[in-house]
Amino acid sequence: MKLETFALERWMTTWETVVSFDIAESGIYPLSTAELFGLLPEDQAAAAQDELLNIRLGYTEARGTERLRGALAETYEQVSPDDILVATGAIEANFLLFTSLLERGDHVVAVYPAYQQLHSVARAIGCEVTPWTISQRDNQFAFDIDALERLVRKDTRLIVVNTPHNPTGAILSQADLERIYGIAEEANAYVLCDEAYRWLDMPGGEPLAAPMRNLGPRAISVGTVSKPFGLPGLRIGWIAATEEIASACWSTRDYTSLSPAGLSDYLATIALRNRDALIARNHEIVRNNLETADVWFAEHADLAAWDRPRGGLLALVRYAAANPSSEVADLLAKDYSVMLAPGSAFGYESHLRIGVGQRPDIFAEGLRRAAICLRSLSAEGN
Ligand SMILES: Cc1ncc(COP(=O)(O)O)c(C=O)c1O
Repeated sequence: MKLETFALERWMTTWETVVSFDIAESGIYPLSTAELFGLLPEDQAAAAQDELLNIRLGYTEARGTERLRGALAETYEQVSPDDILVATGAIEANFLLFTSLLERGDHVVAVYPAYQQLHSVARAIGCEVTPWTISQRDNQFAFDIDALERLVRKDTRLIVVNTPHNPTGAILSQADLERIYGIAEEANAYVLCDEAYRWLDMPGGEPLAAPMRNLGPRAISVGTVSKPFGLPGLRIGWIAATEEIASACWSTRDYTSLSPAGLSDYLATIALRNRDALIARNHEIVRNNLETADVWFAEHADLAAWDRPRGGLLALVRYAAANPSSEVADLLAKDYSVMLAPGSAFGYESHLRIGVGQRPDIFAEGLRRAAICLRSLSAEGN
């Protein structure tokens, strides 16, 4: 299996340790372990800290501890801990699903643009991958389910969707998910819903749909503590599927990471049990950044525009300058110490991807500097 270069990850790793104002940040500003424990009442925090320090650092339960799988199962309807497989981030969860469910020659329909993994792994396996392109109506990105229906065939094995969506911030409604599930059922296909941005509703915005997994045995949900809880360093994600699919992925996992890191498994359980406090923290950060962004876009309407995210943390910024997005992104990083991801990594020229989960002071300064850069490019172009 020959995998294509992961364009976005290569670009991010080139700059993320170098720049000071990373407003391409794809998650919520991360927490420290002390801040996570700070969410607990004092006596519980002391007990949890003690328990953490005494975890024996052996291999853990390969599927993830019963404690963590139990806490995860409770977030779905009619899902048992045996239907959950904990993985090394959503990225391993997706990888295990593609490699366990697909064979060379299978037909896959996958949302486009997308986190590149959602296309590349199936292509590397030798599948025919048909992109389901997200449409742009009245300057708003939207999923066109009628178009999806036309793309799915009798031999389609897997439909891949992602909501809230990276990189546009579009969301699938409950009715959309139900329609997609119906389309999958009719084709005898599975539907993989990458829900890496689950629980990230916009403060004051529309509520998000329930997880795809709740809809039936053909539905698979992938989740992570990385984006919604600001804990990407734990590298904990999961698959919620039927026990049969979870077990097939477990067998594949014997070749990749074997078992989750015990410390991470423990901390992820604490995060899940304190979800409401983490969601309140997210809303505070995102509310602040949206306010800053709204003012910035109003003041700089001649330089850039965006389709405000409806869920998740990400959006595409359309800029006026004529330069290619990789050139603009490199210039921003090198000369302005600002990270905004090039739209070309998603096949969207003249766009940059922004994240609204960064620490508000960094976000505001990043935007201030971005305006100087975009203004100088526009002036050069005239
Ligand atoms: C849509 C999507 N899926 C999966 C991942 C991988 O996340 P994790 O850190 O859980 O591996 C990302 C990371 O950016 C993502 O955007």
